[in-house]
Amino acid sequence: MVRKLAAGNWKMHGLSSDLAQIDVLLAMPRTGACDVALALPATLIAPGAGLGGDDLRIGGQDCHAQAQGAHTGDISAAMLADAGASFVILGHSERRADHFETDALVAAKVTMAQRAGLQVILCLGESLEQYQAGETLQVLRKQLAASVPDGVDLAQLVVAYEPIWAIGTGLTPTAAEVAEVHAALRSALQARFGAEGAQIALLYGGSVKPSNAAEIFAVPNVDGALVGGASLKAADFDAIIRALEAA
Ligand code: PGA
Repeated sequence: MVRKLAAGNWKMHGLSSDLAQIDVLLAMPRTGACDVALALPATLIAPGAGLGGDDLRIGGQDCHAQAQGAHTGDISAAMLADAGASFVILGHSERRADHFETDALVAAKVTMAQRAGLQVILCLGESLEQYQAGETLQVLRKQLAASVPDGVDLAQLVVAYEPIWAIGTGLTPTAAEVAEVHAALRSALQARFGAEGAQIALLYGGSVKPSNAAEIFAVPNVDGALVGGASLKAADFDAIIRALEAA
């Protein structure tokens, strides 16, 4: 059985006053049927982790590919872990676009993050042009092959499919399209890693909200979600978590 995961991503949102949302989230009853995680801006990781405990895992949104050094403004995997993070999102399309991150760089970050003891949520996704050209599966297989390094710790890897055109737009692929992609990712992981590839959680991300969560979680091989905008409000994120618990 793949362990299900509802992961929020606050992106570049959140001041210390917003930690109150975490208190609200922690006060909600849980069935324990899925893990809940929140990727916070770096400044909130330590205070967020202080609140989170076992019920809410706190993580970062990126880390550097090197252990340490003269990299002004960057953050290392060990720093995230030291601040209380237990996971990190890597290869998000906003990092790939805004900071020109390549698959090779993402793969190096995966290695470094896992060496620091962090679980990795690795993001993949096609652009609108690639989607419209019918290149989705081809693009994703290539990203997956090149962004997952040899020697990866599969027990500490989660893969998130996030169509770039669905992020923050309110648009989502159809359930059939998500099913096709997740089946292809599952078989690519099994082809490379054997039976262990069947145990990796596959998340869907891109405009997940309370109103569409149940439909998305009913899709085969969807083991949870990576949630941006809707994770900022505890009530919305809670509704998505409940939908996953019930799936
Ligand atoms: P969204 O973002 O839920 O706001 O579309 C998803 C993501 O980028 O992880």
